[in-house]
Amino acid sequence: MDRYAVIGNPVAHSLSPEIHAQFAEQTGEALEYARLLIAFGAFASEAKRFFDDGARGANVTLPFKEDAFRFAIARSERADIAGAANFLARVDAGIIADNTDGAGLVHDLMGNHGVELRGASILLVGAGGAARGVIAPLLAQSPERLVIANRTVERAQSLAARFSRRGRIEAVALDAIPHDDFTIVLNATSTSTHGETLELPPAVMRPGVLAYDMAYGAAAKPFVARAAALGMRASDGLGMLVEQAAESFELWRGRRPRTAPVLERLRARFA
Ligand code: ATR
Repeated sequence: MDRYAVIGNPVAHSLSPEIHAQFAEQTGEALEYARLLIAFGAFASEAKRFFDDGARGANVTLPFKEDAFRFAIARSERADIAGAANFLARVDAGIIADNTDGAGLVHDLMGNHGVELRGASILLVGAGGAARGVIAPLLAQSPERLVIANRTVERAQSLAARFSRRGRIEAVALDAIPHDDFTIVLNATSTSTHGETLELPPAVMRPGVLAYDMAYGAAAKPFVARAAALGMRASDGLGMLVEQAAESFELWRGRRPRTAPVLERLRARFA
């Protein structure tokens, strides 16, 4: 049977095996999808062993997305732009890399949340790896503007400079977020993961606006709960996870699985 895995550290919590098992069942594709825990610093040797043993592909999560990018012999344009890869596949010439995270976010926002990104005003909070991976896919939808806000403003500025030719993009410090009517507020910081709170100005945390945390489950809870308490439409990134998985599955198997029933089942379990 064709073998796949999600590679990370930690990886025990990953929902990817379950998601791909449901995709496989739904589409009738015969495959195995496991978790692979790799020690820090051992990505290249362990991933090589995994593929030498005959595996067909992998999803890669923290902290190895940059290692995965370097490991591949060739990369998609969107992986190149993000400088990181969450997807590896074996082809005749060797292992190739892609990045399906940004497409996952865009599919979730537009398909599952009904957000019109064209002409939207987007506030993206955070300037680390998670933010960097979604900027180009968001700008490709032609929003009116994308404002990147970050505690360390220099990191936001450097991202804004890097992506400036792809759309209207501005960088601000966390305490200088303009009090504008944003269509959507995206949390790409790691604050919740560290048990810290992200304080944003009440002027942008307005009722009816979509507040979206790119993490899911417990890691997204503080931000999502606060947004909901303020009357915002609040969501974690579970849909993004399922959509990036669907994008990966399609690249490997040539078939696009339906995501709605899978997302529904996972939501029912987390509720
Ligand atoms: P990731 O790959 O998850 O994006 P990262 O590269 O470490 O991880 O980035 C973490 C992001 O969360 C950064 O934008 C970071 O802000 P700094 O660039 O100023 O470090 C942000 N972050 C982490 N803790 C934060 C906090 N307590 N308040 C605000 N932002 C925080």
